[in-house]
Amino acid sequence: MTKIVNSWNDFDPLKHVIVGRADHSCVPPEEPATSEKVPIDSPMRGMWGPRPLETVEKANIQLDNLAKVLQERGIKVDRPSPLQWNQPVITPDFRTGSMMTCMPPRDTLLTIGNEIIEAAMSFRCRYWEYLAFRPLMSQYFNEDPEFLWTQAPRPRLSDKSYKHNYYDEKISLEDRLVRTANKDFVTTEEEILFDAADVMRMGKDLFIQHGLTTNRKAMEWFKRKYPELRIHAVNFPGDPYPIHIDATFVPLRPGLIINNPHRKLPEAQRKIFEQNDWQIVDAAMPAHKEPPPLCYSSVWLSMNCLVLDHKTVIVEASEVNQMEQMDKLGMNVIPMPFRDAYAFGGGLHCSTADVYREGTCEDYFPNQTGDITRV
Ligand code: NVA
Repeated sequence: MTKIVNSWNDFDPLKHVIVGRADHSCVPPEEPATSEKVPIDSPMRGMWGPRPLETVEKANIQLDNLAKVLQERGIKVDRPSPLQWNQPVITPDFRTGSMMTCMPPRDTLLTIGNEIIEAAMSFRCRYWEYLAFRPLMSQYFNEDPEFLWTQAPRPRLSDKSYKHNYYDEKISLEDRLVRTANKDFVTTEEEILFDAADVMRMGKDLFIQHGLTTNRKAMEWFKRKYPELRIHAVNFPGDPYPIHIDATFVPLRPGLIINNPHRKLPEAQRKIFEQNDWQIVDAAMPAHKEPPPLCYSSVWLSMNCLVLDHKTVIVEASEVNQMEQMDKLGMNVIPMPFRDAYAFGGGLHCSTADVYREGTCEDYFPNQTGDITRV
């Protein structure tokens, strides 16, 4: 009997992982869920279609190198099968001009123990993204008799799933921050919506970011699906574009988390960490002032590291401040050039998805506070 799928957190020893690919990636056209992320003065406004080939090739060089370094350390690496992303998505409920990519598997696939869930993503352009991982899912299913292959309820992504007029171009950054602090996001509660990268897995506890890509109904779904786990809603008021938790709140090992100093976890939500002797440390400042061209993410991809075990972490090679901080926190740092891949969907954590980490479902938070477990 072969056990292939097992992972309960982001820090136990990594043995098997999926690394994304940039082939055929597109800049998707605007749609209700995404226009929020494109600044008004960005050259990306109104632009969509296949990304320039030389940028795809450069990204793939860095993704292939990441895969090679992981393999050299004895970690098994699988790769997805990219689709021709430059095709429209047409359903009874919507139509959009193209798909996007399968560079960041972390957004699509959520591993919880022996189960991998294909997420209920809110971007119309990402509706079929899970298909790039189907050959791998099928292989795991054939080879691992305990593997649970799950698809979250498919969202319809009709106009009812988004707030209309949410994107007022005149809105200031301050107003945007007020909105996110008030948990006023573009997605509605019409149906279950989540990206896998909004879920921070900690054994018996799942901390799920409520933001632009994940709603409360998703948290209710997780609560019913996993009655044996504890679901915590978290939000980070300092983030004007709260999409994915892994450049905001990043665990390095049991008892230690780095938190983006511009997106602090609110006081009430910190209690559960404090009462269980977890240390929350402000992450180091990014080394860059701007993200690379045609990139959706912020400079805080500096924090988006891949932890290989409780003592080892891969950090982007130019992020000198973050590397120095990790070193001081007692981690062995492996620098990895990765900025050419950023524009395709994120950093080192985003571009991977766990298949197997050693370890079991631990209870890291035996002292529950009760105040953030409500969903
Ligand atoms: N939305 C986040 C990136 C998450 C990996 C950011 O732009 O900082």
